[in-house]
Amino acid sequence: MKMENLFNEDIMAMDTYIMVKLKEKTAQLAEKLTQKNRAPIALSMGAPTSSPPQALIDKLKEFLTEDNIHTYSVTRGESYFRQACAQRMKNCFGVNIDPDKEVCSVLGAKDGLANLIRFIINPKHEDKEKDIILIPDPGYASYSQMVKCSGGLAYSMPLTEENDYQPNLDDVLSELKENGYDEKKIKAVIINYPNNPLGVMASRSYVQSVIEFCKKHDILLISDAAYCDLYYDENEKPFSVFEFKGAKDIAVEMYTLSKPYAITGWRLGWLCGNSEVVARFAKGKSTIDNGICKAFQKACAYIMTSSEGDEYIEHANAAYKRKQSIMLKGLKELGWPIEELKIPNTTFYLWLPIPRKYDNSTKFCEDLLEKSGVVIVPGSAFGKYGEGYFRISYVCSDAKLQEVIDRMKADGFRF
Ligand SMILES: Cc1ncc(COP(=O)(O)O)c(C=O)c1O
Repeated sequence: MKMENLFNEDIMAMDTYIMVKLKEKTAQLAEKLTQKNRAPIALSMGAPTSSPPQALIDKLKEFLTEDNIHTYSVTRGESYFRQACAQRMKNCFGVNIDPDKEVCSVLGAKDGLANLIRFIINPKHEDKEKDIILIPDPGYASYSQMVKCSGGLAYSMPLTEENDYQPNLDDVLSELKENGYDEKKIKAVIINYPNNPLGVMASRSYVQSVIEFCKKHDILLISDAAYCDLYYDENEKPFSVFEFKGAKDIAVEMYTLSKPYAITGWRLGWLCGNSEVVARFAKGKSTIDNGICKAFQKACAYIMTSSEGDEYIEHANAAYKRKQSIMLKGLKELGWPIEELKIPNTTFYLWLPIPRKYDNSTKFCEDLLEKSGVVIVPGSAFGKYGEGYFRISYVCSDAKLQEVIDRMKADGFRF
């Protein structure tokens, strides 16, 4: 059977997701690396390796035996989960979200974003005819792929040192028009603060300006808040877009439990905001999945609104801060100009320039994997503005992080 005849052009043109490719490559090399005392250490995926909160595990076990807990859930999510989402939005940001009209559960943010994107794009083949979604660059590697495989065009908004990682949307619009694209094709803007892979936050005035831009041009604002719980400086406390005037007219926000509670494999999150967008999204989703395991929703509802959950996040953030220090100290010894770099106070990522002797990030990451067994992600995977950099996820044990530094020293990796 000819795959080109079977699958659509957009899927045929897609590459395997970068993290999956890295995993496959690492598995191929694992035996050889282990033999030379360089068993792989993965600092690639944004997947915390610590155990989830004990209270979450206990509640999950307890709820699994309840009557009727094993049957289908509903697309929007059980009311106890949606109420917990609304409660969490109130506790964290002081915003009011209607659990009945403004929340829909998702199987993690990746599921939510991929489906939202394909629901709003009318697929086209010709570039200039495609619906456009503005995406942060560098940004989460899946955004561009999600847009492309939905038959849309992902247009980069550069996040650079010069613009303080807050691209001026009027400038992006002018450039887009100069490049021959039709501004009326812009369907949505994705913002992601704290940002993956940079770990940067935006100012409040910037967020207000993005909301005004979206209102003026009648564009959906999608705020990806995947890292909103991970911060270690009160001055850079993440926001919800709904703290800002007019946001509910044009915005939705995506949340996930993956990162704050270290449950990347268990899959739960929520989309909230503009009630019409949420309703359409839920309608679209109702034919695709039947919601999420009820016992899990119930256990998550508990952890999201309990002191155990908040204490867990507090401890996790303290641990990330400590892990970041281990990496920074070690990388400084290896010659990285740490004092000159913007060091994040959010997420568990470090975004660093590649050593001077390399001219591209892929080569450096390949060398580090093949020689030292350390898996990191080339900056180019996060967009065209990411070349020249690499991303480290400091999600493993302190001892392993120190071992990464020791191996780099022993194997001659310096800035
Ligand atoms: C910015 C961003 N958004 C969304 C996701 C997806 O998270 P999940 O599907 O685990 O909820 C990730 C995962 O790394 C991410 O970095």
